[in-house]
Amino acid sequence: MATIKSILHETRVFPPEAAFVKQANLSSMEAYYALCDEAEKDLDAFWGKLAREEVMWHTPFSRVLDESNHPFFKWFDDGELNVSFNCLDRHLASQPDKAAIIFEADDGKITLSTYRDLHGRVCRFANGLKSLGISKGDRVIIYMPMSIEAVVAMQACARIGATHSVVFGGFSAKSLHERIIDAGAVAVITADEQHRGGKINHLKTAVDDAIALGGTDSVKSVVVYKRGSGDVQWHVSRDVWWHELTNGKSDVCEPEWIGAEHPLFTLYTSGSTGKPKGVQHSSAGYLLGAILSMKWVFDYKPTDIFWCTADVGWVTGHSYVTYGPLAVGATQIVFEGVPTYPDAGRFWKIIQDHKVTTFYTAPTAIRSLIKNGPDLPGKYDLSSLRLLGSVGEPINPEAWMWYYTVVGQSCCPVVDTWWQTETGSHMIAPVPGAVPLKPGSCTLPLPGIMAAIVDEAGHDIENGKGGFLVIKRPFPSQARTLWGDPERFRNTYFPKELGGKYYLAGDSANRDLDGYFWIMGRIDDVLNVSGHRLGTMEIESALVASPLVAEAAVVGKPDDIRGEAIVAFVVLKGTRPQGESAHNIAIELRNWVSQEIGPIARPEEIRFGDNLPKTRSGKIMRRLLRTLAKGEEITQDISTLENPAILEQLKQPIA
Ligand code: PRX
Repeated sequence: MATIKSILHETRVFPPEAAFVKQANLSSMEAYYALCDEAEKDLDAFWGKLAREEVMWHTPFSRVLDESNHPFFKWFDDGELNVSFNCLDRHLASQPDKAAIIFEADDGKITLSTYRDLHGRVCRFANGLKSLGISKGDRVIIYMPMSIEAVVAMQACARIGATHSVVFGGFSAKSLHERIIDAGAVAVITADEQHRGGKINHLKTAVDDAIALGGTDSVKSVVVYKRGSGDVQWHVSRDVWWHELTNGKSDVCEPEWIGAEHPLFTLYTSGSTGKPKGVQHSSAGYLLGAILSMKWVFDYKPTDIFWCTADVGWVTGHSYVTYGPLAVGATQIVFEGVPTYPDAGRFWKIIQDHKVTTFYTAPTAIRSLIKNGPDLPGKYDLSSLRLLGSVGEPINPEAWMWYYTVVGQSCCPVVDTWWQTETGSHMIAPVPGAVPLKPGSCTLPLPGIMAAIVDEAGHDIENGKGGFLVIKRPFPSQARTLWGDPERFRNTYFPKELGGKYYLAGDSANRDLDGYFWIMGRIDDVLNVSGHRLGTMEIESALVASPLVAEAAVVGKPDDIRGEAIVAFVVLKGTRPQGESAHNIAIELRNWVSQEIGPIARPEEIRFGDNLPKTRSGKIMRRLLRTLAKGEEITQDISTLENPAILEQLKQPIA
């Protein structure tokens, strides 16, 4: 992969700028190491102190970490709090009129919500949810466009102790159905329409389709926010308009005081098998991670205008849209649209118009903006920026340098943040006033995060060599389990092969001689397409669900913009198609996958064979498929291959 090759040769180092250091929350390596040392010496005391300082407790906790039931850790277990109280009520006395959210719609329309206003909206909606009989412990699916209402829906669930599970609006009805059933959701919160890049996506119709697939009797209510025309099919027994539900409701709603370990949310993500995993997060530990990373990594200041471009359908949108920025009392931008609409200057215009100080986006967006307008940032006034962030996939040094020099005018640190759905908040990322930056490296672990690189047996690997990325000790924001499947949680993240002790992230990484981490990519069958995590098995299952397909194998190939692109090798039930017929079937199958999972999973290429390359024991040789997908010559040993002639057929893409 281009990224990986270039990072291995990267030698540039960027120490923090003096002007940045002067105002930074943590402004020296000594201060950073002092925190790391504190955590090394006494993990309980370290996290306990921070949890008391940063989180507002209704009932204080008496115990910090309970690891008696490893790996199902408990943090601050007997403490009680409410996460929505921590994000809203705590700011009401000090800054009621400060803008909490500046919402910019796809068409440019702006709506502002202050902390007082947002608190009122959340309380009214929480009262609405209560009137539907929804209460603590219930699961609620949220399938919404980026909007103030999406944040309100999540915060309202937190306020009443309901566990939300947000499903990205780009997922299909079928994916939504699977998640509704797995969560046993009592309600779905959605919108009639989603507007992105001038196009309309009918979310409510997808909810209707999901429920029509059956087995969703747990769902008693569907709440519909009217974003567009309101022209939807209506099921009187279960559907309710958002505006009617909140009409006349009180803007006071006493928060439900919940235990620290109460599940704030589950979020489905892809793993090695076909079935998405419901990653379950706690309340207090998760919140603490979000707050600390806002302060340490984003160097949060009350004067900041913070903008994280992630959708709330992903973990980044949870921690750095809905929870982190509000918990620290920030003003943030929430944007409905896409970076390239109406043109590739949209992000830069938003930064200019709203005087954004802190901008957090994904390498795939950066690469696409380089391609679509490398000089465009120069046409806007981006002087408000003081910090840039990157997340979701490795950022190649070339993209990093463009981000740093062209967008940031060589005076904004770029924080490359490595973390995952499962870790809840940043794990390895520069503390920008202290840690010198190296393009393509997420640099050093945050204080209290005992990240390391180990071999297959769980033994430490010396700096300079690659291995598995692990986190050796528990940390508050880590996932507590997989919803309904604790054994899968244990087997996936604390595998016996590594001794069962360490959290196995699923990434391979290198650590250089300065101790800097360089993420190399996934070690499992998970692809990273435009920063979105997709399991190859998930896509294969979708393909073989087509009546046309007998067998399918999916691999990733490097892609300049998206990081990875999906290539599917397919054996049809009939004969191998050729010419126009192959072309048409390939289009049909790509659309099929898009319908089954969502457009993000649509294969870039489909190739047909009479069979797939297999060993004599019947195992698909994925290594060979990866070489074929890249269009490279096969140099591997193919003596164990049952059917070498197949390779010729699979060399050429069809569509
Ligand atoms: O492979 C790593 C990659 O994204 C995976 C986590 O994906 P997800 O749970 O969807 O969360 C994405 C947003 C936090 C990781 O296992 N990844 C994430 N951030 C980086 C990264 N790879 C390299 N550098 C990063 N900064």
